[in-house]
Amino acid sequence: MICSCFGTSSVLQKRHDKHANESVQTEEGDSIAKTKNFTYNLLVGATNNFHRSNKIGRGGFGTVYKGVLKNGREVAVKVLSAESKQGEREFMTEIDTISNVKHPNLTELLGCCVHGRNRILVYEYLENSSIDRALLGFRKSIKLDWEKRSAICMGTARGLAYLHEELVPHIVHRDIKASNILLDENLQPKIGDFGLAKLFPDNITHISTKIAGTAGYLAPEYVLGGQLTLKADVYSFGVLALEVVSGRSSGNTNYGCGDKLLMEWAWELYEEGKLLDLVDPELEEFPKDEAIRYMKVALFCAQANASRRPMMSQVTEMLSRNVRLNEDQLTPPGFCEGSSRKSGMVSKNKSSDTTTSHQMSSYPITTTEVAPR
Ligand SMILES: Nc1ncnc2c1ncn2[C@@H]1O[C@H](COP(=O)(O)OP(=O)(O)O)[C@@H](O)[C@H]1O
Ligand SMILES: [Mg+2]
Repeated sequence: MICSCFGTSSVLQKRHDKHANESVQTEEGDSIAKTKNFTYNLLVGATNNFHRSNKIGRGGFGTVYKGVLKNGREVAVKVLSAESKQGEREFMTEIDTISNVKHPNLTELLGCCVHGRNRILVYEYLENSSIDRALLGFRKSIKLDWEKRSAICMGTARGLAYLHEELVPHIVHRDIKASNILLDENLQPKIGDFGLAKLFPDNITHISTKIAGTAGYLAPEYVLGGQLTLKADVYSFGVLALEVVSGRSSGNTNYGCGDKLLMEWAWELYEEGKLLDLVDPELEEFPKDEAIRYMKVALFCAQANASRRPMMSQVTEMLSRNVRLNEDQLTPPGFCEGSSRKSGMVSKNKSSDTTTSHQMSSYPITTTEVAPR
C-alpha cells in the first residue's frame, strides 16, 4: 500500500531533482520513489522534435505524441497545454505521487520533464489506443467480442476500485470517459489521466471541455453543484459501461431512437423490458443474461441520487458474479443533456413522471478536492 503525500508538498523532507528514481521519506517515514526526470533534449529526440506525424491526439490537458526512447521503448509523451496551478515543487510532488500509483488497470507514468514553462509527462505507450477509437469511432479499429468487452468493463472497474478504495489517500479521477480507457496489447484496459485534473484550475482545460463536449459522462450533482465525490466517477463508469456494451458513444444522440441521450434511452428500454435492444448490433454472439446484468449495473451506477450508487468494489462484484440485483432498489438516472439539445440538467422521476430541469449556466462549476466516501 502506498501512503502518499498527495497535495501536501511540505511533508517531503528532501528532493534531488537531477537524480532519477531515488526514494524520499515522508514525515510519516514512508518512502515514495521519485519520478524519473527526462531531459527535454531526450524527448525532442524521442518524438522527432514533436513532429506532427508523431502526434497521437489532443485532449483537455494537452497534446500527446508517440515517442521511442534510445533503448527502443515506445512511450506516449503528453505536453501539457494549460498552465498548472502549482509551482514546480508542488507540481513535482503531485507527479511523484501519481507515478507511484501502480496497478494492472492504470496507465503507468514513467516520468516527466519540466523545461521552462513546459511540463511534459511520459507514459507507457498503449498500442491499441483508447476505446473511443477502438470501439466508438467512425473507423472502429478493433473487433471486440463480448469477452473482450466484459474484460474492459471489469478491468476499468478494478482500476477505479483501486483508486477509490485501496489507495490512501484515495483519488477521484474526475474524467472517466472512453478516451481515457486505453487498451494494451492484450486489449486489457488501463485507465489514463488519473490524478491530473487536480493539477489544473477547474475553470480551464478538461472541465470546460467536458461541459462543451462530453457532458454525457458527468454526474448531475457534479455539474449542478460541483459536488465531487467518488460517486461522480461511479456515474461516469455507468455511462462508459453502456457505451462498451452498446458500441455507441454517449456524445451522440442519433441512434435512431429520437433525440435521446444514451443513458436516457437505456432507462426507457429498461422500463419497457427491452434492454437487449441496446446491445451493439455488431456483437454476433453474447450471453444475453450477462449483457443485461452489465446494463443494469450501469443503471445502478448512474442513479440520480449519488448515495444510492454502489462503490466500485461492489460494482466489480456485481459484474463478476451472477448475483441477483435488487432491482426494487433501482431508481432512475440523472443526466446532463448534451450540446446537441438545449443545455440543461434533467432528472426524470419514474413514479411521478415529472421532469425537473435547471439551466446549467446558472450554476457555477466549482469542484472540491477529494471528498469523503
Ligand atoms: N499512453 C497512451 N498510449 C497510447 N495512446 C494514448 C496514450 N495516452 C493518450 N493516448 C491517445 O491520445 C489521445 C489524447 O489523449 P489525452 O490528451 O489524454 O486526451 P483526453 O482528454 O481525450 O483524455 C487519446 O484519445 C488516446 O487515444
Ligand atoms: Mg486522456
